[in-house]
Amino acid sequence: MEKKNLDWSNLPFGYIQTEKRFVSNYKNGAWDDGVITEDANITLNECAGVFQYAQTVFEGLKAYTTEEGKIVCFRPDLNAERLATSAKRLEMPVFPEDKFIDAVVEVVKANAAYVPPYGSGATLYIRPYMMGTNPVIGVKPADEYQFRIFCTPVGPYFKGGVKPLTIKVSDFDRAAPCGTGHVKGGLNYAMSLHAIVTAHEEGFDENMYLDPKTRTYVEETGGANFIFITKDGKLVTPKSDSILPSITRRSILYVAKEYLGMEVEERKIPLSEVSEFAECGLCGTAAVISPVGKIVDHGKEICIPAGMTDMGPITKKLYDTLTGIQMGRIEAPEGWIKEIC
Ligand code: PLP
Ligand code: COI
Repeated sequence: MEKKNLDWSNLPFGYIQTEKRFVSNYKNGAWDDGVITEDANITLNECAGVFQYAQTVFEGLKAYTTEEGKIVCFRPDLNAERLATSAKRLEMPVFPEDKFIDAVVEVVKANAAYVPPYGSGATLYIRPYMMGTNPVIGVKPADEYQFRIFCTPVGPYFKGGVKPLTIKVSDFDRAAPCGTGHVKGGLNYAMSLHAIVTAHEEGFDENMYLDPKTRTYVEETGGANFIFITKDGKLVTPKSDSILPSITRRSILYVAKEYLGMEVEERKIPLSEVSEFAECGLCGTAAVISPVGKIVDHGKEICIPAGMTDMGPITKKLYDTLTGIQMGRIEAPEGWIKEIC
């Protein structure tokens, strides 16, 4: 298969329309088999549930070319599971988890020419999502839904490569008023757009959100979870019901413990403790692991010792091990890598 002629090493984190996507419709209480189609556009009624009550949710995962030249994706079963949890929270029908994985495989296979080559620094970002499609005017869930998956080749989410990020302690709360922590997409991201625009206008890369109730504990950022490394080399990450249960973070916890023999802790982290840490990073599918150099709390600067000019040494070890597993350089734990072709 011939690859597309793209400048793989200089791709932004953006949308490049590929030829094929997967579409399945839910009607009369059942999902159809779904098809691969070339039509990137969606035509819906003006009163569709997605437009009126934002009944929509998404997932995000990536496909990689391994060192051996295979195309694989990383733990799609966990995206299928999280989408099911999100769908239930939004009163949407669950897209069957096994069919989700099959559909991811089908879409990536159909777009194999867009999967960036090994070593290019780019990956194929896969975006499964679903929405209420029939007209609803009273406040209630739709009866009909569409599930789609498109993909797009992407470069790094944060510009500047490994240059550590500067983030601000946000005045905004992470979750929507009704609390949608476990919903990736829909309500909570719309509510976060103003906060991210404000942070960018002020020159910050991201927001650090605090717990909405006491505003004293670290939660997450707009598009990634936090990891911290203590001065004695322990991995610490926030425990909270209102942050997205990041698949990357869960994988890093395992890698730290089982591959690197590190001590790991998932617990509440007061903002006042952040200045004590040696390293800080943001983790997620898009962010992978991006180092944080500075956190600004209303004018007060917290400088992370290891991270002002480069990725801290332990963060780098975690990054190398995680991406090594994803790209086939390091043996993966059972079930983490789904081979596509
Ligand atoms: N938190 C938020 C708000 C996100 O948008 C993401 C993005 O994916 C994550 C965390 C990381 O989750 P995952 O590692 O499953 O991609
Ligand atoms: C992802 O990492 O998959 C996300 O959804 C994050 C988003 C900011 C692109």
